[in-house]
Amino acid sequence: MFPFCVDCSFEEMPTNNFVESRYWFPISVSTCSFWNFDALFQPQQHPARDSHDTFFLEVPSTTRELPEDYVKLVKRVHESGGYGSRGYMYDWKREEANKNLLRTHTTAVSTRMLYALAKQPFTPKRYFSIDRVFRNESVDRTHLAEFHQIEGLVCDKGLTLGDLIGVLNDFFSRLGMSKLRFKPAYNPYTEPSMEIFSYHEGLKKWVEIGNSGMFRPEMLLPMGFPEDVRVIAWGLSLERPTMILYGVDNIRDLFGHKVDLSLMKRNPICRLGID
Ligand code: PHE
Repeated sequence: MFPFCVDCSFEEMPTNNFVESRYWFPISVSTCSFWNFDALFQPQQHPARDSHDTFFLEVPSTTRELPEDYVKLVKRVHESGGYGSRGYMYDWKREEANKNLLRTHTTAVSTRMLYALAKQPFTPKRYFSIDRVFRNESVDRTHLAEFHQIEGLVCDKGLTLGDLIGVLNDFFSRLGMSKLRFKPAYNPYTEPSMEIFSYHEGLKKWVEIGNSGMFRPEMLLPMGFPEDVRVIAWGLSLERPTMILYGVDNIRDLFGHKVDLSLMKRNPICRLGID
């Protein structure tokens, strides 16, 4: 059985600032390309880093405050690898990492939290967050340029993929989604990675509800974690299961400036659960 209880001892991550350029104080959540992408071993040519996908800031457009010793290790792991990896073998550019942006995922915050954690003598941790993320999407019935992400992670020695599957089953069944399937996937920062599907009784089909994985050594070892530390993590949108559960077919009826305020007044607090 999975050794953790989902009810207890998950600490909330400070996701309350969307953009901010300081790095050292965990409460101020910086979101520059370095924390959103580079520290996650996401190469600088990755399509998600294009302005077609990400909102970059004009003022201030760059950060000047990054932890220099750590930046050097991240640059090295991208360029030539280390820790058993060959890296991506390209010229890593500091200017690219300095660009400020609106975070595209709350994994930017998980990364900063893990970086801060790795500075301390090792202690296992469980973190979660629920907050806003931004993507340069064309807006339609199922997509908005801003939405909410739910994220969780467990950091401990010797965790395995079995632990990730166990905690996901526990986590989602408490939201009312107990029939799960996992499909191998790809994220630059996790290996292995799994998409999470849940069977929807109403729609009579499997629907994708989240993404997960074990953070790569190329991400964790430059932070300074001991080699046997593993991090299992997952993320999902808040809007998607809510739409499925409440039969909302247009995301703009649920979130954003077109929401009918009387709907808010009429309805009780939502409970998640799509089975
Ligand atoms: N960052 C991923 C996303 O935006 C979610 C995720 C979090 C995946 C943690 C793996 C691990 O979809």
